[in-house]
Amino acid sequence: MRLSLGSHVFLAGGVALVWAAVATPVFAQSPVATAVTFTKDVAPILQKACQNCHRPGSVAPMSLLTYQDARPWARSIKAKVSAREMPPWHIDRNVGITRFKDDPSLSDEEIATIVSWVDGGAPQGNPSDMPPARQFSDLDSWYIGKPDIVVKMDKPYVLPPTGPDNIVDVLVDPGFTEDMYVMAIESKPADPRSFKVVHHFTTNLVEDEEEDPTGLFLNEYALGKNGDVFPPNSGRLIKAGTKINFNLHLNPRGEETPVSVQLGLKVFPKGQTPKYVAFTQHMGDAPDLDIPSGQIARHDGYFRLPRPALVASFQPHMHNRGKAMCMEAIYPDVRADSARPGPSRVETLSCVSNYQFGWHITYPYADDVAPLLPAGTIVHITAWHDNTANNRWNPNPKNWVGGGARSIDEMSFAWVTITYLDDDDFNQRVTDRARAAQRSTSQQQP
Ligand code: HEC
Repeated sequence: MRLSLGSHVFLAGGVALVWAAVATPVFAQSPVATAVTFTKDVAPILQKACQNCHRPGSVAPMSLLTYQDARPWARSIKAKVSAREMPPWHIDRNVGITRFKDDPSLSDEEIATIVSWVDGGAPQGNPSDMPPARQFSDLDSWYIGKPDIVVKMDKPYVLPPTGPDNIVDVLVDPGFTEDMYVMAIESKPADPRSFKVVHHFTTNLVEDEEEDPTGLFLNEYALGKNGDVFPPNSGRLIKAGTKINFNLHLNPRGEETPVSVQLGLKVFPKGQTPKYVAFTQHMGDAPDLDIPSGQIARHDGYFRLPRPALVASFQPHMHNRGKAMCMEAIYPDVRADSARPGPSRVETLSCVSNYQFGWHITYPYADDVAPLLPAGTIVHITAWHDNTANNRWNPNPKNWVGGGARSIDEMSFAWVTITYLDDDDFNQRVTDRARAAQRSTSQQQP
Protein backbone atom coordinates (compact mmCIF):
# COMPACT_ATOMS: atom_id res chain seq x y z
CA MET A 1 0.00 0.00 0.00
CA ARG A 2 2.66 2.43 1.01
CA LEU A 3 4.74 1.62 -2.03
CA SER A 4 1.94 2.14 -4.47
CA LEU A 5 0.89 5.33 -2.74
CA GLY A 6 4.44 6.53 -3.11
CA SER A 7 4.24 6.02 -6.83
CA HIS A 8 0.98 7.94 -7.02
CA VAL A 9 2.66 10.78 -5.21
CA PHE A 10 5.29 10.73 -7.89
CA LEU A 11 2.68 10.76 -10.63
CA ALA A 12 0.48 13.42 -9.16
CA GLY A 13 3.46 15.50 -8.18
CA GLY A 14 1.90 16.56 -4.88
CA VAL A 15 1.31 14.82 -1.58
CA ALA A 16 -1.72 16.89 -0.64
CA LEU A 17 -3.51 15.99 -3.83
CA VAL A 18 -3.12 12.28 -3.25
CA TRP A 19 -4.27 12.34 0.34
CA ALA A 20 -7.35 14.26 -0.63
CA ALA A 21 -8.15 11.67 -3.28
CA VAL A 22 -7.69 8.79 -0.86
CA ALA A 23 -9.45 10.39 2.05
CA THR A 24 -12.77 11.04 0.32
CA PRO A 25 -13.95 7.49 -0.38
CA VAL A 26 -12.74 6.25 3.02
CA PHE A 27 -14.85 8.92 4.67
CA ALA A 28 -17.84 8.03 2.50
CA GLN A 29 -17.71 4.46 3.77
CA SER A 30 -17.78 5.31 7.45
CA PRO A 31 -20.83 3.86 9.24
CA VAL A 32 -22.55 7.25 9.51
CA ALA A 33 -22.58 7.58 5.74
CA THR A 34 -25.41 6.05 3.69
CA ALA A 35 -25.31 2.30 3.08
CA VAL A 36 -23.25 0.95 0.22
CA THR A 37 -25.58 -0.33 -2.52
CA PHE A 38 -25.19 -2.32 -5.68
CA THR A 39 -26.64 0.22 -8.07
CA LYS A 40 -24.78 3.23 -6.72
CA ASP A 41 -21.43 1.87 -5.57
CA VAL A 42 -20.76 -1.67 -6.75
CA ALA A 43 -22.09 -1.75 -10.31
CA PRO A 44 -19.58 0.89 -11.56
CA ILE A 45 -16.70 -1.22 -10.20
CA LEU A 46 -18.02 -4.41 -11.81
CA GLN A 47 -18.50 -2.58 -15.11
CA LYS A 48 -14.96 -1.32 -15.09
CA ALA A 49 -13.08 -4.32 -13.72
CA CYS A 50 -15.13 -7.49 -14.16
CA GLN A 51 -17.74 -7.48 -16.89
CA ASN A 52 -15.40 -7.78 -19.83
CA CYS A 53 -14.90 -11.39 -18.71
CA HIS A 54 -18.04 -11.88 -16.62
CA ARG A 55 -20.72 -11.60 -19.32
CA PRO A 56 -22.40 -14.17 -21.52
CA GLY A 57 -20.06 -15.57 -24.14
CA SER A 58 -16.84 -14.38 -22.49
CA VAL A 59 -14.29 -16.44 -20.53
CA ALA A 60 -15.71 -16.36 -17.00
CA PRO A 61 -18.17 -18.95 -15.65
CA MET A 62 -20.90 -16.49 -14.63
CA SER A 63 -22.27 -13.10 -15.63
CA LEU A 64 -21.95 -10.07 -13.36
CA LEU A 65 -23.96 -7.66 -15.51
CA THR A 66 -26.99 -7.12 -13.29
CA TYR A 67 -27.90 -7.18 -9.62
CA GLN A 68 -29.77 -10.46 -10.21
CA ASP A 69 -26.63 -11.94 -11.80
CA ALA A 70 -24.27 -10.77 -9.08
CA ARG A 71 -26.30 -11.22 -5.90
CA PRO A 72 -25.92 -15.04 -5.61
CA TRP A 73 -22.14 -14.59 -5.91
CA ALA A 74 -21.81 -11.90 -3.25
CA ARG A 75 -19.81 -13.95 -0.73
CA SER A 76 -17.56 -15.40 -3.37
CA ILE A 77 -17.01 -11.93 -4.86
CA LYS A 78 -15.99 -10.61 -1.46
CA ALA A 79 -13.57 -13.51 -0.97
CA LYS A 80 -12.02 -13.19 -4.43
CA VAL A 81 -11.56 -9.44 -4.43
CA SER A 82 -10.23 -9.32 -0.85
CA ALA A 83 -7.64 -11.98 -1.69
CA ARG A 84 -6.83 -9.97 -4.85
CA GLU A 85 -7.50 -13.08 -6.93
CA MET A 86 -10.09 -11.16 -8.99
CA PRO A 87 -9.65 -9.32 -11.24
CA PRO A 88 -6.75 -11.64 -12.10
CA TRP A 89 -3.54 -9.68 -11.40
CA HIS A 90 -1.37 -11.52 -8.94
CA ILE A 91 1.82 -9.51 -8.79
CA ASP A 92 3.03 -8.71 -5.28
CA ARG A 93 2.19 -5.05 -4.69
CA ASN A 94 4.76 -4.67 -1.94
CA VAL A 95 7.86 -5.98 -3.65
CA GLY A 96 10.07 -4.49 -6.33
CA ILE A 97 8.61 -2.47 -9.15
CA THR A 98 5.03 -1.46 -8.47
CA ARG A 99 3.91 0.44 -11.54
CA PHE A 100 2.64 -1.31 -14.64
CA LYS A 101 0.90 -0.47 -17.87
CA ASP A 102 -2.82 -1.25 -17.87
CA ASP A 103 -2.93 -2.39 -14.26
CA PRO A 104 -6.55 -3.59 -13.90
CA SER A 105 -6.38 -4.24 -10.16
CA LEU A 106 -8.82 -2.63 -7.74
CA SER A 107 -7.77 0.10 -5.34
CA ASP A 108 -7.98 -0.61 -1.62
CA GLU A 109 -10.98 1.72 -1.52
CA GLU A 110 -12.82 -0.22 -4.23
CA ILE A 111 -12.19 -3.46 -2.37
CA ALA A 112 -13.48 -1.85 0.84
CA THR A 113 -16.64 -0.77 -1.02
CA ILE A 114 -17.34 -4.31 -2.20
CA VAL A 115 -16.64 -5.76 1.24
CA SER A 116 -18.98 -3.35 3.00
CA TRP A 117 -21.66 -4.00 0.38
CA VAL A 118 -21.51 -7.74 1.10
CA ASP A 119 -21.22 -7.27 4.88
CA GLY A 120 -24.22 -4.95 4.75
CA GLY A 121 -26.39 -7.74 3.24
CA ALA A 122 -25.61 -6.98 -0.43
CA PRO A 123 -28.56 -4.59 -0.95
CA GLN A 124 -29.65 -3.58 -4.42
CA GLY A 125 -30.29 0.09 -3.64
CA ASN A 126 -32.26 2.49 -5.75
CA PRO A 127 -32.67 1.13 -9.32
CA SER A 128 -32.42 4.68 -10.67
CA ASP A 129 -28.82 4.85 -9.39
CA MET A 130 -27.83 2.06 -11.79
CA PRO A 131 -25.30 3.35 -14.33
CA PRO A 132 -26.13 2.80 -18.03
CA ALA A 133 -25.03 -0.67 -19.16
CA ARG A 134 -21.47 -0.82 -20.43
CA GLN A 135 -21.36 -1.30 -24.18
CA PHE A 136 -19.15 -4.09 -25.43
CA SER A 137 -17.98 -4.61 -28.95
CA ASP A 138 -15.76 -7.36 -30.26
CA LEU A 139 -12.86 -4.98 -29.80
CA ASP A 140 -13.20 -5.24 -26.05
CA SER A 141 -12.15 -8.78 -26.19
CA TRP A 142 -8.68 -7.80 -27.47
CA TYR A 143 -6.49 -6.69 -24.61
CA ILE A 144 -4.08 -4.89 -26.99
CA GLY A 145 -6.90 -2.89 -28.62
CA LYS A 146 -8.12 -3.35 -32.16
CA PRO A 147 -5.53 -5.41 -34.05
CA ASP A 148 -4.45 -4.28 -37.54
CA ILE A 149 -4.12 -7.90 -38.61
CA VAL A 150 -5.84 -11.04 -37.37
CA VAL A 151 -4.44 -14.41 -38.41
CA LYS A 152 -6.86 -17.33 -38.05
CA MET A 153 -6.62 -21.03 -38.68
CA ASP A 154 -8.02 -21.99 -42.09
CA LYS A 155 -10.29 -24.59 -40.53
CA PRO A 156 -10.80 -25.84 -36.97
CA TYR A 157 -8.86 -28.80 -35.65
CA VAL A 158 -11.29 -31.43 -34.40
CA LEU A 159 -10.27 -32.57 -30.92
CA PRO A 160 -11.50 -36.05 -29.96
CA PRO A 161 -13.66 -36.28 -26.79
CA THR A 162 -11.20 -38.39 -24.81
CA GLY A 163 -7.60 -39.50 -24.79
CA PRO A 164 -4.30 -37.94 -23.80
CA ASP A 165 -3.33 -34.28 -24.30
CA ASN A 166 -3.14 -33.48 -28.02
CA ILE A 167 -0.13 -31.55 -29.29
CA VAL A 168 -0.84 -30.26 -32.77
CA ASP A 169 1.02 -28.02 -35.23
CA VAL A 170 -1.08 -25.94 -37.61
CA LEU A 171 0.75 -23.92 -40.24
CA VAL A 172 -1.09 -20.92 -41.67
CA ASP A 173 0.02 -18.78 -44.60
CA PRO A 174 -1.46 -15.32 -43.96
CA GLY A 175 -0.10 -14.04 -47.28
CA PHE A 176 2.17 -11.31 -45.89
CA THR A 177 3.57 -9.48 -48.92
CA GLU A 178 5.70 -6.90 -47.05
CA ASP A 179 8.02 -6.78 -44.06
CA MET A 180 6.40 -5.29 -40.98
CA TYR A 181 7.23 -4.42 -37.40
CA VAL A 182 4.83 -5.50 -34.71
CA MET A 183 4.19 -3.25 -31.69
CA ALA A 184 1.75 -5.49 -29.83
CA ILE A 185 0.73 -9.15 -30.05
CA GLU A 186 -2.11 -11.13 -28.61
CA SER A 187 -3.12 -14.69 -29.31
CA LYS A 188 -6.15 -16.55 -28.03
CA PRO A 189 -8.83 -19.10 -28.81
CA ALA A 190 -11.32 -17.84 -31.38
CA ASP A 191 -14.53 -18.94 -29.63
CA PRO A 192 -15.86 -19.99 -26.20
CA ARG A 193 -15.77 -23.72 -26.98
CA SER A 194 -12.11 -23.57 -27.85
CA PHE A 195 -11.39 -21.64 -24.61
CA LYS A 196 -12.44 -24.74 -22.66
CA VAL A 197 -9.92 -27.13 -24.20
CA VAL A 198 -6.88 -25.03 -25.05
CA HIS A 199 -4.29 -25.59 -22.34
CA HIS A 200 -1.91 -23.27 -24.12
CA PHE A 201 -0.42 -22.61 -27.52
CA THR A 202 2.56 -20.83 -28.96
CA THR A 203 2.88 -18.94 -32.19
CA ASN A 204 6.04 -19.18 -34.24
CA LEU A 205 7.28 -17.30 -37.29
CA VAL A 206 8.20 -19.75 -40.04
CA GLU A 207 10.35 -17.90 -42.56
CA ASP A 208 11.56 -20.98 -44.41
CA GLU A 209 9.65 -24.21 -44.04
CA GLU A 210 12.50 -26.40 -45.29
CA GLU A 211 15.31 -24.79 -43.31
CA ASP A 212 13.49 -24.26 -40.06
CA PRO A 213 10.04 -25.84 -39.85
CA THR A 214 9.65 -24.89 -36.15
CA GLY A 215 10.35 -21.22 -36.72
CA LEU A 216 11.10 -18.37 -34.33
CA PHE A 217 9.08 -18.04 -31.16
CA LEU A 218 6.65 -15.14 -31.38
CA ASN A 219 4.34 -15.37 -28.37
CA GLU A 220 2.35 -17.65 -26.15
CA TYR A 221 -1.26 -17.97 -25.11
CA ALA A 222 -2.35 -19.78 -21.97
CA LEU A 223 -5.61 -19.50 -20.04
CA GLY A 224 -5.93 -16.00 -18.68
CA LYS A 225 -3.13 -14.54 -20.75
CA ASN A 226 -3.52 -10.89 -21.77
CA GLY A 227 -1.07 -9.76 -24.47
CA ASP A 228 2.46 -8.56 -25.20
CA VAL A 229 2.90 -4.84 -25.79
CA PHE A 230 6.44 -3.81 -26.70
CA PRO A 231 8.06 -0.63 -25.30
CA PRO A 232 7.91 2.60 -27.35
CA ASN A 233 9.87 2.60 -30.57
CA SER A 234 10.48 -1.17 -30.41
CA GLY A 235 9.03 -3.78 -32.67
CA ARG A 236 9.33 -7.35 -33.71
CA LEU A 237 10.17 -7.91 -37.38
CA ILE A 238 7.92 -10.20 -39.42
CA LYS A 239 9.32 -10.70 -42.90
CA ALA A 240 7.27 -10.86 -46.08
CA GLY A 241 6.26 -14.43 -46.86
CA THR A 242 6.44 -15.55 -43.22
CA LYS A 243 3.97 -18.22 -42.21
CA ILE A 244 2.54 -18.61 -38.73
CA ASN A 245 2.80 -21.92 -36.94
CA PHE A 246 0.29 -22.48 -34.15
CA ASN A 247 1.59 -25.15 -31.76
CA LEU A 248 -1.52 -26.19 -29.84
CA HIS A 249 -1.61 -28.05 -26.57
CA LEU A 250 -5.16 -29.31 -26.00
CA ASN A 251 -6.93 -31.17 -23.18
CA PRO A 252 -9.86 -33.37 -24.27
CA ARG A 253 -12.90 -32.60 -22.07
CA GLY A 254 -15.40 -35.35 -22.85
CA GLU A 255 -16.94 -33.98 -26.04
CA GLU A 256 -15.66 -33.65 -29.56
CA THR A 257 -14.59 -30.03 -29.95
CA PRO A 258 -13.69 -28.05 -33.07
CA VAL A 259 -10.73 -25.92 -31.94
CA SER A 260 -9.82 -22.63 -33.52
CA VAL A 261 -7.27 -20.06 -32.39
CA GLN A 262 -6.21 -16.66 -33.64
CA LEU A 263 -3.35 -14.17 -33.51
CA GLY A 264 -3.89 -10.39 -33.39
CA LEU A 265 -1.11 -7.99 -34.39
CA LYS A 266 -0.78 -4.24 -34.12
CA VAL A 267 1.90 -3.06 -36.52
CA PHE A 268 3.90 0.12 -37.13
CA PRO A 269 2.57 2.18 -40.03
CA LYS A 270 4.06 1.30 -43.39
CA GLY A 271 7.50 2.85 -43.89
CA GLN A 272 8.05 3.45 -40.17
CA THR A 273 10.87 1.37 -38.73
CA PRO A 274 11.22 1.23 -34.94
CA LYS A 275 14.69 1.83 -33.55
CA TYR A 276 14.77 -1.31 -31.39
CA VAL A 277 13.99 -4.94 -31.82
CA ALA A 278 11.93 -6.45 -29.02
CA PHE A 279 11.31 -10.10 -28.35
CA THR A 280 10.03 -12.43 -25.66
CA GLN A 281 12.08 -15.36 -24.44
CA HIS A 282 12.37 -17.99 -21.69
CA MET A 283 14.55 -17.01 -18.77
CA GLY A 284 15.63 -19.02 -15.77
CA ASP A 285 14.50 -22.49 -16.81
CA ALA A 286 15.30 -24.78 -13.92
CA PRO A 287 16.70 -27.93 -15.52
CA ASP A 288 15.86 -30.79 -13.14
CA LEU A 289 12.65 -30.18 -11.28
CA ASP A 290 12.35 -32.28 -8.16
CA ILE A 291 9.06 -31.72 -6.36
CA PRO A 292 8.50 -34.35 -3.65
CA SER A 293 4.96 -35.27 -2.66
CA GLY A 294 3.49 -33.24 0.18
CA GLN A 295 6.19 -30.57 0.00
CA ILE A 296 6.86 -27.07 -1.20
CA ALA A 297 9.90 -27.11 -3.46
CA ARG A 298 12.10 -24.25 -4.60
CA HIS A 299 14.09 -24.10 -7.84
CA ASP A 300 16.39 -21.50 -9.30
CA GLY A 301 17.37 -20.64 -12.84
CA TYR A 302 19.62 -17.98 -14.34
CA PHE A 303 20.15 -16.01 -17.51
CA ARG A 304 23.16 -13.75 -18.09
CA LEU A 305 22.47 -10.73 -20.28
CA PRO A 306 25.09 -10.55 -23.03
CA ARG A 307 24.34 -6.87 -23.68
CA PRO A 308 22.67 -3.96 -21.85
CA ALA A 309 18.93 -4.45 -21.92
CA LEU A 310 15.57 -2.93 -21.16
CA VAL A 311 13.15 -5.41 -19.59
CA ALA A 312 9.59 -4.67 -20.64
CA SER A 313 7.59 -7.40 -18.93
CA PHE A 314 7.56 -10.43 -16.67
CA GLN A 315 5.32 -13.47 -16.90
CA PRO A 316 5.80 -16.51 -14.65
CA HIS A 317 5.13 -19.89 -16.23
CA MET A 318 4.27 -22.87 -14.03
CA HIS A 319 1.56 -25.53 -13.98
CA ASN A 320 -0.86 -26.85 -11.33
CA ARG A 321 1.67 -26.81 -8.47
CA GLY A 322 2.92 -23.28 -9.15
CA LYS A 323 2.89 -21.20 -5.97
CA ALA A 324 5.16 -18.19 -6.43
CA MET A 325 7.89 -16.82 -8.66
CA CYS A 326 10.35 -13.96 -8.25
CA MET A 327 12.69 -12.27 -10.71
CA GLU A 328 15.78 -10.54 -9.42
CA ALA A 329 18.74 -8.81 -11.01
CA ILE A 330 22.22 -9.73 -9.81
CA TYR A 331 24.22 -6.78 -11.10
CA PRO A 332 27.77 -7.17 -12.37
CA ASP A 333 30.46 -6.23 -9.94
CA VAL A 334 31.08 -2.55 -10.62
CA ARG A 335 34.45 -2.52 -8.92
CA ALA A 336 35.85 -5.72 -10.33
CA ASP A 337 39.18 -4.15 -11.18
CA SER A 338 39.71 -2.43 -7.84
CA ALA A 339 41.88 -3.88 -5.10
CA ARG A 340 38.78 -4.60 -3.06
CA PRO A 341 35.90 -5.49 -5.38
CA GLY A 342 32.57 -4.79 -3.75
CA PRO A 343 29.75 -7.28 -3.42
CA SER A 344 27.32 -7.45 -6.30
CA ARG A 345 24.15 -5.46 -5.91
CA VAL A 346 21.00 -7.59 -5.99
CA GLU A 347 17.59 -6.15 -6.66
CA THR A 348 14.24 -7.93 -6.57
CA LEU A 349 12.40 -6.72 -9.65
CA SER A 350 9.07 -8.50 -9.19
CA CYS A 351 7.36 -11.36 -7.41
CA VAL A 352 4.09 -13.06 -8.10
CA SER A 353 3.59 -14.24 -4.52
CA ASN A 354 0.11 -15.69 -4.96
CA TYR A 355 0.42 -17.50 -8.28
CA GLN A 356 -2.94 -18.79 -9.47
CA PHE A 357 -2.88 -21.79 -11.73
CA GLY A 358 -4.64 -21.02 -14.98
CA TRP A 359 -3.70 -17.34 -15.07
CA HIS A 360 -0.80 -16.62 -17.38
CA ILE A 361 -0.60 -12.90 -16.94
CA THR A 362 2.03 -10.68 -18.49
CA TYR A 363 3.02 -7.84 -16.19
CA PRO A 364 4.22 -4.97 -18.44
CA TYR A 365 6.32 -2.41 -16.55
CA ALA A 366 5.48 1.28 -16.88
CA ASP A 367 8.03 2.78 -19.27
CA ASP A 368 9.78 5.01 -16.75
CA VAL A 369 10.41 2.17 -14.27
CA ALA A 370 11.07 -0.77 -16.64
CA PRO A 371 14.38 -2.31 -15.49
CA LEU A 372 17.50 -1.07 -17.28
CA LEU A 373 20.14 -3.73 -16.75
CA PRO A 374 23.82 -3.47 -17.71
CA ALA A 375 25.59 -6.17 -19.73
CA GLY A 376 26.59 -9.07 -17.53
CA THR A 377 23.59 -8.76 -15.20
CA ILE A 378 22.29 -12.15 -14.19
CA VAL A 379 18.52 -12.46 -14.23
CA HIS A 380 17.68 -14.87 -11.44
CA ILE A 381 14.32 -16.62 -11.46
CA THR A 382 13.17 -18.39 -8.29
CA ALA A 383 10.11 -20.62 -8.42
CA TRP A 384 8.15 -22.31 -5.65
CA HIS A 385 5.86 -25.25 -6.32
CA ASP A 386 3.29 -26.41 -3.78
CA ASN A 387 2.81 -30.16 -3.93
CA THR A 388 0.80 -30.36 -0.71
CA ALA A 389 -2.91 -31.01 -0.23
CA ASN A 390 -3.33 -27.28 0.62
CA ASN A 391 -2.98 -26.43 -3.05
CA ARG A 392 -6.50 -26.67 -4.42
CA TRP A 393 -5.24 -27.16 -7.96
CA ASN A 394 -3.07 -30.14 -7.00
CA PRO A 395 -4.43 -33.19 -8.87
CA ASN A 396 -2.55 -35.59 -6.58
CA PRO A 397 -0.35 -34.55 -3.65
CA LYS A 398 0.83 -38.17 -3.29
CA ASN A 399 2.77 -38.02 -6.56
CA TRP A 400 6.34 -36.94 -6.99
CA VAL A 401 6.45 -34.36 -9.79
CA GLY A 402 9.18 -33.57 -12.27
CA GLY A 403 9.60 -31.38 -15.31
CA GLY A 404 7.60 -31.92 -18.52
CA ALA A 405 5.13 -30.47 -20.94
CA ARG A 406 1.90 -32.16 -19.79
CA SER A 407 -0.35 -30.16 -17.44
CA ILE A 408 0.36 -32.69 -14.68
CA ASP A 409 4.12 -32.23 -15.04
CA GLU A 410 5.71 -29.00 -13.95
CA MET A 411 7.56 -26.15 -15.56
CA SER A 412 9.57 -23.36 -14.09
CA PHE A 413 10.62 -20.34 -16.09
CA ALA A 414 9.56 -16.78 -16.89
CA TRP A 415 8.64 -15.29 -20.24
CA VAL A 416 10.57 -12.03 -20.33
CA THR A 417 10.23 -9.37 -23.02
CA ILE A 418 13.50 -7.54 -23.61
CA THR A 419 15.17 -5.11 -25.95
CA TYR A 420 18.94 -4.99 -26.21
CA LEU A 421 20.40 -1.47 -26.25
CA ASP A 422 23.75 -0.20 -27.42
CA ASP A 423 26.08 1.18 -24.74
CA ASP A 424 25.52 4.86 -25.52
CA ASP A 425 21.79 4.52 -25.55
CA PHE A 426 21.85 2.53 -22.32
CA ASN A 427 24.04 5.10 -20.54
CA GLN A 428 21.86 7.92 -21.80
CA ARG A 429 18.73 6.28 -20.44
CA VAL A 430 20.35 5.61 -17.08
CA THR A 431 21.37 9.28 -16.86
CA ASP A 432 17.92 10.49 -17.91
CA ARG A 433 16.28 8.34 -15.27
CA ALA A 434 18.61 9.56 -12.55
CA ARG A 435 17.84 13.19 -13.55
CA ALA A 436 14.11 12.56 -13.58
CA ALA A 437 14.34 10.92 -10.15
CA GLN A 438 16.32 13.88 -8.82
CA ARG A 439 13.81 16.36 -10.22
CA SER A 440 10.89 14.61 -8.61
CA THR A 441 12.65 14.38 -5.23
CA SER A 442 13.56 18.07 -5.22
CA GLN A 443 10.00 18.99 -6.25
CA GLN A 444 8.61 17.13 -3.29
CA GLN A 445 10.79 18.96 -0.82
CA PRO A 446 9.34 22.39 -0.18
C1 HEC B 1 -9.68 -11.53 -17.33
C2 HEC B 1 -11.01 -12.04 -17.08
C3 HEC B 1 -11.64 -11.81 -15.74
C4 HEC B 1 -11.80 -10.63 -15.05
C5 HEC B 1 -11.34 -9.24 -15.48
C6 HEC B 1 -12.49 -10.97 -13.84
N1 HEC B 1 -12.74 -12.30 -13.79
FE1 HEC B 1 -13.62 -13.32 -12.27
N2 HEC B 1 -13.23 -15.08 -13.19
C7 HEC B 1 -12.72 -15.22 -14.45
C8 HEC B 1 -12.59 -16.64 -14.76
C9 HEC B 1 -12.08 -17.22 -16.07
C10 HEC B 1 -13.02 -17.34 -13.63
C11 HEC B 1 -13.05 -18.87 -13.42
C12 HEC B 1 -11.66 -19.40 -13.22
C13 HEC B 1 -11.02 -18.95 -11.95
O1 HEC B 1 -11.67 -18.97 -10.90
O2 HEC B 1 -9.84 -18.56 -12.00
C14 HEC B 1 -13.41 -16.32 -12.66
C15 HEC B 1 -13.90 -16.63 -11.40
C16 HEC B 1 -14.46 -15.68 -10.55
C17 HEC B 1 -15.13 -16.00 -9.31
C18 HEC B 1 -15.28 -17.38 -8.70
C19 HEC B 1 -16.46 -18.10 -9.30
C20 HEC B 1 -16.65 -19.43 -8.65
O3 HEC B 1 -16.89 -20.38 -9.38
O4 HEC B 1 -16.55 -19.51 -7.41
C21 HEC B 1 -15.58 -14.82 -8.78
C22 HEC B 1 -16.35 -14.62 -7.50
C23 HEC B 1 -15.15 -13.77 -9.67
N3 HEC B 1 -14.50 -14.31 -10.73
C24 HEC B 1 -15.40 -12.43 -9.49
C25 HEC B 1 -14.83 -11.41 -10.24
C26 HEC B 1 -14.94 -10.02 -9.93
C27 HEC B 1 -15.75 -9.45 -8.79
C28 HEC B 1 -14.20 -9.35 -10.87
C29 HEC B 1 -13.94 -7.86 -10.95
C30 HEC B 1 -13.59 -7.19 -9.73
C31 HEC B 1 -13.66 -10.33 -11.77
N4 HEC B 1 -14.06 -11.58 -11.35
C32 HEC B 1 -12.85 -10.04 -12.87
C33 HEC B 1 -12.34 -14.21 -15.30
C34 HEC B 1 -12.26 -12.86 -14.93
